[in-house]
Amino acid sequence: MVKKREIVKGINRRRLLGGATALGSLAMTSKVFSQVKANRDNLPPNLPEWTPDLGPGVDVNPYGTPSIFEENVIRRNVPWLTASAESSVNFTPLQDLEGIITPNGLCFERHHGGVPEINPADYRLMINGLVDREMIFTLDDLKRFPQTNKFYFLECAANGGMEWKGSQLNGCQFTFGMVHNVQYTGVKLSDLLSETGLKPKAKWVLAEGSDTSGMTRSIPIEKILEDCLIVWAMNGEALRAEQGYPVRLVVPGWEGNMWVKWIRRLEFGDKPYMTREETSKYTDLLSNGKARMFTWVMEAKSVVTSPSPEKPILQKGVHQIRGLAWSGRGKIKRVDVSIDGGKNWKTSKLHGPVFSKSLSRFTFPLNWNGEELLIQSRAIDETGYVQPHIHELQKVRGLNSIYHNNSIATWLVNKNGKVENVRLG
Ligand code: MTE
Ligand code: CO
Repeated sequence: MVKKREIVKGINRRRLLGGATALGSLAMTSKVFSQVKANRDNLPPNLPEWTPDLGPGVDVNPYGTPSIFEENVIRRNVPWLTASAESSVNFTPLQDLEGIITPNGLCFERHHGGVPEINPADYRLMINGLVDREMIFTLDDLKRFPQTNKFYFLECAANGGMEWKGSQLNGCQFTFGMVHNVQYTGVKLSDLLSETGLKPKAKWVLAEGSDTSGMTRSIPIEKILEDCLIVWAMNGEALRAEQGYPVRLVVPGWEGNMWVKWIRRLEFGDKPYMTREETSKYTDLLSNGKARMFTWVMEAKSVVTSPSPEKPILQKGVHQIRGLAWSGRGKIKRVDVSIDGGKNWKTSKLHGPVFSKSLSRFTFPLNWNGEELLIQSRAIDETGYVQPHIHELQKVRGLNSIYHNNSIATWLVNKNGKVENVRLG
C-alpha cells in the first residue's frame, strides 16, 4: 500500500545529524521500547508476591514521586541542540501522557541563561512608564487581587523547528515536546493596571525577566488587556523554579518566548522596544532576504502521540490512535486522522473538556492487520483555520525557517509495528 519512493527517511536523517549522534538517539529509543517481562509466579491464579508486602510506610516519600516502573517517563534533551546545560532546552514526553494536563515535573524547560533561585520574600514586580502611578508589588500584594484559574498551553516558537527541511529526529518527544499545558493561578494584568492606571499614549509593554539572559519582549497593549496573566501557581502548587518561580507572565496562545519567567518589571511605552529576542531572534528569514517579525500567535497544530516512534504497535487487532491538538486562536473544533498519508481523512473523537488556547485530547479507533500505515492528524480550530502541510509553509517562508512549524507530521508504521518519523515527498 505504501510506496517506498514517496518516503524520505533514514538517509536524510543521518545526513542532517552526523553519524555518532544518530546512533545515540537510536540507543535511547530502543530503551523506551523495552518491555517489562512478566513473572509467571505473579499471574492468576497465584497470589502475587506484592500482596503480603506492607511497603515502606507514609513518611518515606513526603513529596510523592511516580512509580519506579515509570522511570522512562522523563524530560529529555538533545545534546547537540544547545550550547550548555544552563542555556538549554528539554522536551515533554507527550507520548506517555494522558488527558490534557502536563504534570509539573514533566513540563519542558527552556532557559536562555540558567535558573535563578529567588526567595519569594525578596520578590518584587515593578510597573512603570506610561502609567498614572508607578508601583512595586510584593508577592503577597499580588495574591490580594481577585484570582483566576485558567488552562493554557505554552509552546516554544522553535517546537518542530528541526523538522523544517525534512524529518530529522525520530521521536514524538523531540519533534513535538516543546509544549506543555497546565492550570495557572494568578491575577489578570488588566486588574493590576486598574491600580496603576494607564496613560492614553500607552500602546506597548516591555516585559523583563530577572535571570542572566536579560529576557525582554514587547507586547501590544490590546493583548495585555485581553487575557495576559501574572501567575504564581501551576497545577495547584507554586510555580517550579524552572518555570519562573515565584512569578511569570502568561501570554495565552502566543509564542512561549514572550511568557517571561522570573518577571521583575513591566514598562509601558508608546512603541515596540525592538529587543534582541524580537529582532535577531524569533523572526523568520524569508527566501527574498527579508524577515518576518512579530509572529506571535501559535497556529493550530496536532500530534499523534500513540502510535509514535516511542510507542510501537505491539499486536494486531483493535487499538486507539491517541493525540493532542491545540490552537493559539481559540478552541479546537475538529481533528481529522489519516492512516494512508493524507489521501483519506476521518473525523476523530474530541474529548472534553475543550478549553480555549489549551491542549485538547483526541482518539480514533484503529484495527491493525499488520499492514504499513502512514498516520497523520490535522487540527481545525474554531476560526476555521486548518493545520497546513509543510509544503504550504515552505511555499510562503522558504527553506530557512525554524520557528512556527505547525505542519502535519507523518508516522510510518512498519509491518513489525515499529514507527518512524518520515517526510512525504
Ligand atoms: N523567560 C526568561 N526570563 N528567561 C528565559 O530564558 N525562555 C522563554 C520563555 N520565558 C525564557 C523566558 C522561552 S524561549 C520559552 S519557550 C518559555 O519561557 C519556556 O517556558 P518553560 O521553561 O516554562 O517551558
Ligand atoms: Co522558546
